[in-house]
Amino acid sequence: MSPADLPDICTCNGMREEDIKRAIAAGAQDLDAVFAYLKQDIFCSQCLVDIDSYLFPTTGD
Ligand code: FES
Repeated sequence: MSPADLPDICTCNGMREEDIKRAIAAGAQDLDAVFAYLKQDIFCSQCLVDIDSYLFPTTGD
């Protein structure tokens, strides 16, 4: 499966995992910063939990 086949993390804005990771790598430290970096707006909020999991990954403990 190529990256282009992966589902969007945020369907409202068409943001994919690679976009979220790029924003975090660029210094985004919270949800607002991720959306601001990607120049997108929060619409339905359904993706926020998923994006949060990239911002604050659990260690599995
Ligand atoms: S899925 Fe991200 S704002 Fe709707």
